[in-house]
Amino acid sequence: MPYYRVVGEVPRKRHVQFRRPDGGLYAEELMGEEGFSSDSSLLYHRHLPTAIVKAEAVTPAAATRLEPNVPLSPRHFRTQELSSAGDLVSGRMLLAGNADVRLSYATSDRPSELYRNSMGDECVYVQRGRVRFESTYGVIEAGEGDYVVIPTGTIHRWVPDGPVNVLAIEASGHIRPPKRYLSQYGQFLEHAPYCERDLRAPAEPFTVEGEEVPVLVRTRGGLTRLVYRNHPFDVVGWDGYLYPYAFNIDDFEPIVKKTHAPPPVHQTFEGPGFVVCSFCPRPLDYHPEAIPIPYNHHNVDSDEFMFYVGGDYSARKGSGIDVGSISLHPAGFTHGPQPGAVEAVIDAVGRGVTTTSEMAVMVDTFRPLDLGRDALSCEDPGYAWTWAR
Ligand SMILES: [Fe+2]
Repeated sequence: MPYYRVVGEVPRKRHVQFRRPDGGLYAEELMGEEGFSSDSSLLYHRHLPTAIVKAEAVTPAAATRLEPNVPLSPRHFRTQELSSAGDLVSGRMLLAGNADVRLSYATSDRPSELYRNSMGDECVYVQRGRVRFESTYGVIEAGEGDYVVIPTGTIHRWVPDGPVNVLAIEASGHIRPPKRYLSQYGQFLEHAPYCERDLRAPAEPFTVEGEEVPVLVRTRGGLTRLVYRNHPFDVVGWDGYLYPYAFNIDDFEPIVKKTHAPPPVHQTFEGPGFVVCSFCPRPLDYHPEAIPIPYNHHNVDSDEFMFYVGGDYSARKGSGIDVGSISLHPAGFTHGPQPGAVEAVIDAVGRGVTTTSEMAVMVDTFRPLDLGRDALSCEDPGYAWTWAR
């Protein structure tokens, strides 16, 4: 995270005695990135964060195998047809992934168990519903359109308030705002499409009493369930630059050009080997002869995974794409608007249409995406041929 935050009680100096009301010492814990060389936070626990009483290997509840996109083709997955068993962690249906990132869809109305991803940061996009994110840092109330960014190693759980649908982006490293949006010291610059005021982080400590509390831990070796002697939600205060936060897609301020702007103007986050972009309602390109939808393009170095979350996608009329759809346009394939879409949008502008209501979350990966069984189970098999009709 780009800026300092303090929540709850912390001692005046770091690494000094900090005592509980009963005279005992709070246990200080550093959560830090890149081996003491990047952002970190100091957390103060009532109990030792090291005290575990049991460890057991866990067999994943969902399928985790991926297959190459062969024969290479553009794909359309209909998440509207998926329903998961489990919660927003155990019920994740792996749609696509590579060594850098895994993309899963989940839908659930039940609380998850405590979970820690030690492989990398997660960015969970809430497509529908309301959900309470509880963590050692505190609580974030999340809802439709929120990206919740969770630093590696954060112990947390998801508590839905009714049915919730999410897209989970699991990175192999850290997910951050794009560097070009930030000053050399980390402040959002004026040209950035969002800034610090748009980010929501825990505002107060969140503590829960409990003993022998299981936490599901994801590591390179697979899944392990560690049982903690005391509930890990025992932090009375923390400070630093590293913490979970939420950002709502409606707070993204789209950048519009006179003629069509490419997706980097929609970039929201970057991670190792991928970027996340938000396509939001905005005025159409305003050159008198503009074609205000994408030109055919071939991103030779990336696969484009696009989740359509709302509005009307003019460029995709005739493709079968609807809200809840995901398209995958891989490197090796040139994609663009469906036949007739360019003429239709020029006509619409002629009739006085000046805005687009499209809303989508895009993940562009720099290595090819392999496909999960759940994605193939909801694939629209005719999609690849829709440009040739
Ligand atoms: Fe594209």
